[in-house]
Amino acid sequence: MNYRHAFHAGNFGDCMKHVVLVWLLRALMRKPAPLFVLDTHAGVGRYDLENGPAARTGEWQQGIARLLDQPPAPLADYVNLVHSLGLYPGSPSLIRALLRPGDRLACCELHPDDAAELRRIFGRDRQVAVHQRDGWEALGALLPPKERRGLVLIDPPFEQPQEFDALLTGLGVGYQRFRSGVFAAWYPIKHRTPIRRFLAGLQDSSMRDIIAAELHLREPVDPTRLNGCGMVVINPPFQFEQDIPPLLTALLERLGSREPHEGVTVTRLVDE
Ligand SMILES: C[S@@+](CC[C@H](N)C(=O)[O-])C[C@H]1O[C@@H](n2cnc3c(N)ncnc32)[C@H](O)[C@@H]1O
Repeated sequence: MNYRHAFHAGNFGDCMKHVVLVWLLRALMRKPAPLFVLDTHAGVGRYDLENGPAARTGEWQQGIARLLDQPPAPLADYVNLVHSLGLYPGSPSLIRALLRPGDRLACCELHPDDAAELRRIFGRDRQVAVHQRDGWEALGALLPPKERRGLVLIDPPFEQPQEFDALLTGLGVGYQRFRSGVFAAWYPIKHRTPIRRFLAGLQDSSMRDIIAAELHLREPVDPTRLNGCGMVVINPPFQFEQDIPPLLTALLERLGSREPHEGVTVTRLVDE
């Protein structure tokens, strides 16, 4: 395990996934029934961007740093949440901030140091369970939740070439156990071939009601660069297809560099 999210926290991929994550949580919380959230690849939970490893890469300067001042209206909810939490929040902190008293969060993190940090943050929190365990295996073990309502965030590091296959398999395992759950999985767009294969795999699976939302910084011709990123959502809440494009367009206006083929796509892959 070489990947450490602390070097990449706050980059444009993080912003995209967190904007969608916050929208999904708000949408699910329109109903009062308790909610379970599973974060299979949780990271550390919060990051000191100015002094920690993120300062060494500076990736956050092209990401969250460009959103913090006077965010455009569609991003205000997310950015206000970031401001309110002090240190830059990773997915567990964002999710925790939105939980209502009856909701639960389970975070899985395999790296011992990162899991220990998560325990330091959430160890005394009765609504949060921290598991130092394999997130792929947790999809089988922790689903379905007793609440029967929930969101599963899958955010692997993509440090191994076969990670798209693991994601397809993991989504299938989780979906078999929790068909009514909302699944959101983030993926990098470096070049087209693995994305096409992954999306075709979803279309060929038995899973229903799937949308892919993508943010493209440029044409994905140089596979050594992060040229964009996407989020696959299974069982998207009502209005996802209407609400997400303006959010991602607002993100691109701040984070893009006006390169050719910059853009946002929201594509229905499989009908309900
Ligand atoms: C992209 S980061 C997660 C970022 C986090 N979701 C966020 O939005 O703030 C991926 C994390 O997964 C962890 N990881 C890698 N393989 C894992 C596995 N099989 N199970 C659980 N965690 C894993 C890495 O240590 C890393 O912290």
